[in-house]
Order: sequence, then structure tokens, then C-alpha cells
Amino acid sequence: MGQALVTTTGIMEHVRRLEDEHPPIRLDSVDRTVVNPRVVRERFAPVIDYLARVELEVDRNVLELLTLLPGVSEVDRYFYQDVWQPQEVAHGVILDRLQVDLGLPPAEVFLGIPMRMKLLGALAHLPAVQEISRFLYYLTGAATERQAVVAYSRFTTQLDQLGETAISRTVIGPIKRQEPGHYAFYQMSATQMIQDEVLAPWQLFVARVLRDKAFALVGTNYVTEYQAQLGGVLVGLELDGELARYAKDIGRLEAKLLWANRKGMEFPPYFLKALRQSVDLYREKGFARPAA
Ligand SMILES: [Fe+2]
Ligand SMILES: [Fe+2]
Repeated sequence: MGQALVTTTGIMEHVRRLEDEHPPIRLDSVDRTVVNPRVVRERFAPVIDYLARVELEVDRNVLELLTLLPGVSEVDRYFYQDVWQPQEVAHGVILDRLQVDLGLPPAEVFLGIPMRMKLLGALAHLPAVQEISRFLYYLTGAATERQAVVAYSRFTTQLDQLGETAISRTVIGPIKRQEPGHYAFYQMSATQMIQDEVLAPWQLFVARVLRDKAFALVGTNYVTEYQAQLGGVLVGLELDGELARYAKDIGRLEAKLLWANRKGMEFPPYFLKALRQSVDLYREKGFARPAA
């Protein structure tokens, strides 16, 4: 039995549903009661700081997107501008407030555009380059949102175990429920490009080289301190003991679409390598913010 074809109309309907069913979470809908702030702070400070920052960095993602995809399609624009960005900013604002409630400093957002983005952007007027960038944008989005789904699920469970049910039920739980729809958007969009054979073999080859040589996990931005911070999140959520399973979870789609599961590949090796590096850096350096 073949899989149903992904169509632009289908993706459009998906985005419309997200807009209807998931309005941005309002700060006044949240119960920020914390039973034991010291315990939450000690255990989850790196997790909350990292998540707040990455959620608030969506404005940079939009800038990157406009650099990379000047001729953005209507469905892409509708998703990131009308639906995704307002939802993510609300996640960031709520998490940042929680962090301040806990007596921690507010998030410091990184809004620079990395050189590699500028380079790709300089070539973005070439349709063939833009197609590669668009495909990588979907793959990055899928991996990132999958990480968000896992992180918020774990976080909810662990808060419940600590009896912190107010923030679990009104902060982390509601955020968690908005992430799978984002993942589905990127997954459908990337799948459609492969299914419709939009990319020529040389374009897929370039995409694989770029991924292999310049892969970075969400929020790390090629900055050592940020890589170490991600390690702190993995340790905080107790994912550091199962990195291969986690790599498979977040890299499965990319192994299938970009690498056609070459030689039985379950996830691209650079996923696990980047995760391991982050955990090692955290053990070595701890959780610190980059010097301004
Ligand atoms: Fe989010
Ligand atoms: Fe998201």
C-alpha cells in the first residue's frame, strides 16, 4: 500500500487547523505557582534558560528564512508568519517569565545571522540554490520540533513527579501540545519535495555535503557555550544515557528523506556526534552564557 501523496492544499489545510485550534498561549492563562522553587531551579535552570532562549530566537529564524528564501511560497509564509512565529514567541515569553519567577536572570537572545547563512543567502537568487535551502530549512525544522516534542514531554513528566503540577499543567503541557503540529508541517513539506522529485541528484548531493560538514543542533549557532548549554538540557532531562535512541528519534526523517536509509542508516551519524559533543562540553565547562 502506497502512502497518501502530500499536496500543497493538504499542507495549507494543516496550517489552517493549527491556526484555528492553537491560538498563541496567553500569559494570563498560566498558573505560575511553584511549590518548591529551589528544587525546580537546581534541577531545571539550564533546561528553562535554553528553551526560553531558543523559543525567543524565532525572530532570528525568520530573518534567516528571508535571507535564504527571498521568493517564499504562500504556504511557507502563512505558516511561519501567521501561525508558527506567534505561537513560539508566546512559548518564549511564558518560559522567560517562569525563569524570572524562579529568581534566575532573563534569557539573552542571540540574533546574529551566521556567516554560512549569509553565504547561502548571497546565492539565493539562484532557483537551484534556493531549492536546496528550502529543503534544508524543512529538515532543520523537523529535527528541531521533534526535539521540542521530546523535551517538553520529558519536562512535563518530571515536573509531575516532583509535584509541580501547576506549571506542568498550565505552562509546559500546553506548550508541548503545540509542537507536534509544527513538526508535521516540516515533515509534510520535506516529504513533498522528495515525492515530487523537486531536487536533482546534484542538489541532493550538495544538501548531504552541507549537512555532513555543517550540521548544528537547534540553538547552538556554532557557539561553544551554547553547545555546552544543550548538553545541560540533555543531562537535565536525563536523555544523556540514551543518546543513540534520541538521535534516532530526531534524525529518523532525515535518514529517510536525505540519505534514503543508505546501508540501513537509522539516523545520520552527525546527529549523534553533535549530541555527544554537547554532553561532553557540558561536563567539561558547565552551563555558562557566552561573553557578550
Ligand atoms: Fe515552541
Ligand atoms: Fe515549535
